[in-house]
Amino acid sequence: MALKEKVVLITGGSRGIGRETALTLSKNKLVVITYNENKEAADNVLSLIKKSGGHAVSIQLNVSDLKTFPNFVEKLSTILQEEWGKTKIDYIVNNAGIGLSASLSDINEDQFDKLVSVHLKGPLFFTQSMLPLINVGGAIINISSGLTRFTTPGMGVYASVKGALEILTRYMAQEFSAKKIRVNAIAPGIVRTEFGGSNQIDKNFDEFISQQTLLGRLGEPKDIATVIDSVLEDNFSWVTGQRIEASGGLFI
Ligand SMILES: NC(=O)c1ccc[n+]([C@@H]2O[C@H](COP(=O)([O-])OP(=O)(O)OC[C@H]3O[C@@H](n4cnc5c(N)ncnc54)[C@H](OP(=O)(O)O)[C@@H]3O)[C@@H](O)[C@H]2O)c1
Repeated sequence: MALKEKVVLITGGSRGIGRETALTLSKNKLVVITYNENKEAADNVLSLIKKSGGHAVSIQLNVSDLKTFPNFVEKLSTILQEEWGKTKIDYIVNNAGIGLSASLSDINEDQFDKLVSVHLKGPLFFTQSMLPLINVGGAIINISSGLTRFTTPGMGVYASVKGALEILTRYMAQEFSAKKIRVNAIAPGIVRTEFGGSNQIDKNFDEFISQQTLLGRLGEPKDIATVIDSVLEDNFSWVTGQRIEASGGLFI
């Protein structure tokens, strides 16, 4: 017999924002996380969820590697059926990402292509592959960035690609409304994760960002996970095609 809970798939659920989102959503949903290289971190998320009575599975996924998507979908379908008696999922959080800082004077083609492929091409074609598996009335969240509203040195291409992802979000919302699927972008400010090696956030940077943030501190993964949780819930059932910033009021 199929379990009653809704199913959410979170890309990049092994670390940072995706990890915290998986832990938060597992309280009332069945969770599929993906990891790219770090299976150990993904296993750790699964064991924490299981320990607290939730249900979760993990599958390897490189969002830049489009040719692997049909195999991913097949693997996911088998797991859904075997683990939970399901054929479909309800929600996708396109969260997987890489941090790459390079000035516009220095950035090279390889770095540019990497950013486009992980943050734009990947989310589009991954979502396209998953579309037949998403239930009518589902929802998709694309993780964007506060950097589409303000500027920081070295982040020009990253921010531009996230800007494109926000436009893609509106077009997804338009097209997928045929299946009553809501699509929104959530734009975090600066969040304390290992993103781009930024677990080395030093005291000066921390102080500077805290001073520039209306609520007076850096973001934590939980701050974003709870927004993702809310936007997927029925209270947001009339919200689609929107960019929602969760930055504590950074650079207002
Ligand atoms: N942290 C911030 O300040 C901040 C601010 C605004 C927006 N964001 C956005 O938030 C999202 C999550 O960032 P985070 O800070 O949580 O990063 P993180 O701690 O570095 O975690 C990144 C996650 O993405 C996965 N990943 C990396 N490259 C991948 C690929 N090619 N294919 C599939 N998965 C891949 C990683 O998997 P492995 O563990 O296997 O490597 C990991 O689970 C990103 O989209 C980022 O752009 C972050």
